[in-house]
Amino acid sequence: MRIDVLTVLPELLRSPFEHSIIKRAQAKGVVEICVHNIRDYTTDKHRSVDDYSFGGDAGMVLKIEPVFVLIEKLKAERTYDEIIFMTPDGERYNQHIANNLSTKTNILLLCGHYKGVDHRVREHLITRELSVGDYVLTGGELAAAVVTDSVVRLLPGAISNETSALSDSFQDNLLSAPVYTRPAEFNGWKVPEVLLSGNFGEIAKWQEEQALERTARLRPDLLNKRCE
Ligand code: ADE
Repeated sequence: MRIDVLTVLPELLRSPFEHSIIKRAQAKGVVEICVHNIRDYTTDKHRSVDDYSFGGDAGMVLKIEPVFVLIEKLKAERTYDEIIFMTPDGERYNQHIANNLSTKTNILLLCGHYKGVDHRVREHLITRELSVGDYVLTGGELAAAVVTDSVVRLLPGAISNETSALSDSFQDNLLSAPVYTRPAEFNGWKVPEVLLSGNFGEIAKWQEEQALERTARLRPDLLNKRCE
């Protein structure tokens, strides 16, 4: 899979893509992540990527020209399954969308900045708009990092124990059961007896009960979605 991220602040994305699972997945060739600086594609002599909005609304707007030039260049090199704009007014991102994106070959993530992007980008170049939640970030970079991270960990070969991504919270619209490690007792606080029993049938039953109980208590909205 290849993920292209278009941003005016490539530095913001360096660290999230250079650690842990994402780093290893790139090293193993499971995913290729390419970060592009939109400013490198401006035709403006001042290299500016933003301008005042028509109509006088306060705040700068990301210009269409450099975004268009960069997207057209990338589209000439490969076919994109999705060209996604990260924006707080997009479709709310969730595990189901992550699973779906992880089956694609090429996706492109455009990070918004300033007051927004010239709307013609959204009308003519974008195939999908995603939000990571009902709050406003300074730009789309952290949101693009969230999408990239959640998609890459699902790719075959990204995680050595492949079942572990499938048992993540939300995969079943269920939160995960609690996990513990040694010591079995710390400060008088004990690990549940069943986990030390070696009885895998009982352990699986306990985990399922815990997952259901935690979901009902913490995220009852998810239980209604289980049969969707
Ligand atoms: N850009 C700014 N806020 C955002 C959000 N909540 N989701 C996606 N992109 C954003």
